Amino acid sequence: MIIRPRRLRRTPAIRDMVRETRLSVEDLIYLVFVKPGTGVRDPISSMPGQVQYSVDTLAEEAEGIREEGIPAIMVFGLPDRKDPTGTRSWADDGIVQQAVAAVKRRVPDLTVITDVCLCEYTDHGHCGVLRDGDVDNDATLEILARQAVSHAEAGVDMVAPSDMMDGRVAAIRSALDRAGRSNVGILSYAVKYASAFYGPFREAAECTPQFGDRSSYQMDPANAREGVKEALLDVEEGADMVMVKPALPYLDMIHRIREACLLPVAAYNVSGEYAMIKAAEEKCWIDGTRVMMEVLLSIKRAGADLILTYFAREAAHLLRQG
Ligand code: PBG
Repeated sequence: MIIRPRRLRRTPAIRDMVRETRLSVEDLIYLVFVKPGTGVRDPISSMPGQVQYSVDTLAEEAEGIREEGIPAIMVFGLPDRKDPTGTRSWADDGIVQQAVAAVKRRVPDLTVITDVCLCEYTDHGHCGVLRDGDVDNDATLEILARQAVSHAEAGVDMVAPSDMMDGRVAAIRSALDRAGRSNVGILSYAVKYASAFYGPFREAAECTPQFGDRSSYQMDPANAREGVKEALLDVEEGADMVMVKPALPYLDMIHRIREACLLPVAAYNVSGEYAMIKAAEEKCWIDGTRVMMEVLLSIKRAGADLILTYFAREAAHLLRQG
């Protein structure tokens, strides 16, 4: 035998030398939920280890997050009240606007990204405004643009539209520019599937649709070419980075998007992916820590430059230990 692949697996030092993919803390974006009140740290039962913060506790926590080496957080807001058009999403004193200002004041070098969507703010739980029982694309664009501008005014570094309306990246880009916020970036949830893996998030963000589902705006899990089309459209519309979501059941899409465009590609390791590992670990069916690291590495290997994950802090801790 001339070729023996095992020669390169013989010792830890050799394995280190030939390792093709490395996960590092700079790849990770942590996800946080913020709600009204003070001193709040309400556990999210379907996502063990994750909590809903208030503005003050989130700002405290932000220091620790940055000290751990994590470069960025993405913020989701739970408003004080919901209405049919999600007006609290673009209010100057809205929950996300307050959180962004407080975090940037306390930890200026932590990159803050905000989720831009209406589902947390509408009483019907859909990601846009309704007309005749369906989500009205173009009417929603105006509200999303307002929301993005209000986040920019609060000091956000980047906005991340997750609504899946057509044309939202262009609408947000032009509204930000008109408001003098051309430095604020757009991380587009470009390839977002209508997935059952968002279940725990909908508890965490209190945004389950009150009727129907999101299949008329989020993508059909069966479609791959359409995902490439979505990503390329967002590139044309001015996205700075594009995202694939969920991550693990769509590793092929991460790979395709990496090949198809030049922007940084992010992948969102969603709530259901997190919850499954935590649940199996609680039952002692898997080694949760090892499975977490294997999953994050596989997302990176598939082609993701950045990973949005509820595991960010746990993984950062492990990566620091080396
Ligand atoms: C919508 C949004 C969702 C998630 C992120 N942004 C839920 C949805 O589309 O229904 C899901 C994230 C997760 O499951 O962790 N604003």
